[in-house]
Amino acid sequence: MNSNYKNILSPFTFPVSGIEITSRIVLAPMTTYSGNDDGTVSDAELNYYRERNDSAGLLLTACAYVTKQGKAFHGQIGVDSDILIPSLKSIAAVLKENGNKAVLQIHHGGRMSAPEELVDGQSISASAVAAVRENAQVPRAMTTTEIKETIVAFGEATRRAIAAGFDGVEIHGANTYLLQQFFSPHSNRRTDEWGGTLEKRMAFPLAVADAVLKAAALSPRPFLVGYRISPEEVENPGIIMKDTLQLVEALSKKKMDYLHVSVMDFWEGSMRDSADTVSRTELIAAKVGATLPIIGVGGIHTPEEVARVLAVGIPLVAMGRELLMDPHWLTKVKNRTTDQITTELDVNTQEVLKIPSPLWERLVTREDWMRLKK
Ligand SMILES: Cc1cc2nc3c(=O)[nH]c(=O)nc-3n(C[C@H](O)[C@H](O)[C@H](O)COP(=O)(O)O)c2cc1C
Repeated sequence: MNSNYKNILSPFTFPVSGIEITSRIVLAPMTTYSGNDDGTVSDAELNYYRERNDSAGLLLTACAYVTKQGKAFHGQIGVDSDILIPSLKSIAAVLKENGNKAVLQIHHGGRMSAPEELVDGQSISASAVAAVRENAQVPRAMTTTEIKETIVAFGEATRRAIAAGFDGVEIHGANTYLLQQFFSPHSNRRTDEWGGTLEKRMAFPLAVADAVLKAAALSPRPFLVGYRISPEEVENPGIIMKDTLQLVEALSKKKMDYLHVSVMDFWEGSMRDSADTVSRTELIAAKVGATLPIIGVGGIHTPEEVARVLAVGIPLVAMGRELLMDPHWLTKVKNRTTDQITTELDVNTQEVLKIPSPLWERLVTREDWMRLKK
């Protein structure tokens, strides 16, 4: 067998939960913007998941808000109430139909939440500092009580994910959302126990991890916990690699199954220093990869590209846009029909690809994101 295929199709066992998956491919978490207004999943989104439930060994959902105050976009699914457990059950059941493992990504948008999606129209964050983007709202700094309630909410979300039949949760600590906002010296200007020094900026993400792990420990069946981070920020002050290596070291001391390093191009170097060209994921893997399995992601499309990442010692590879364009990528690897893999989005295939319209509209207008075939 072509050794690239053999490596991609080799099983992997997560070290803490003992959960096994049958390939090294992970479906990256992707928001479909098509949930119902009450936070339940829509039929269109279920169809989208069904079409991709054999696309990877580990299937990550779109991010789900853990409190209403953390809802970031229109059409986001929720995990903030027991009322949503039946909806979450339907997602888990659809994802698991082919025997692959389903993981719910749990999330709070913080200052990146769209004000119009919030009950009081006011986003919250570590401090009252707006994100650097057009028309960004100045968030309200969270009270100590709100911080503690939000930590509890992540634990409660985990309990609901277990009740819904998921195989795990991924803590969304990346992509500029609330956990990252506490870690970042840009968005966290606090001077209490939740900010100030690097150690105090790590306190909220680590407390969330503890709450999630505590809830996961109550699962009656194996249940995995992963954590997603963004290694750097462009802002000044902003997250720097040196700080990130401390955070990942602290995370590696907890009983977690994986660390997912969110970048748009796996091989790209620093976004802060063009002279520093080493892949951020490789740097993180060098620090903690021996104890905490790493999921690499970002701009990976072909089996050869996946094999190249596996070859540098990253055990798992997530793909997002590629599995939007070709949900049957992995089947083609299994069947040795990789010449049929699609790496462009044919603008006439929305129905075949089962992509809900709110997501589709975004994809076909974002030529900077997608390779479009018109
Ligand atoms: C439409 C879309 C929605 C996304 N939604 C999420 C999300 O809910 N949670 C998350 O952590 N990342 C999200 N991402 C980022 C992806 O998980 C992934 O990291 C990124 O697309 C880079 O990987 P790729 O080049 O394989 O697409 C999203 C990306 C896309 C394209």
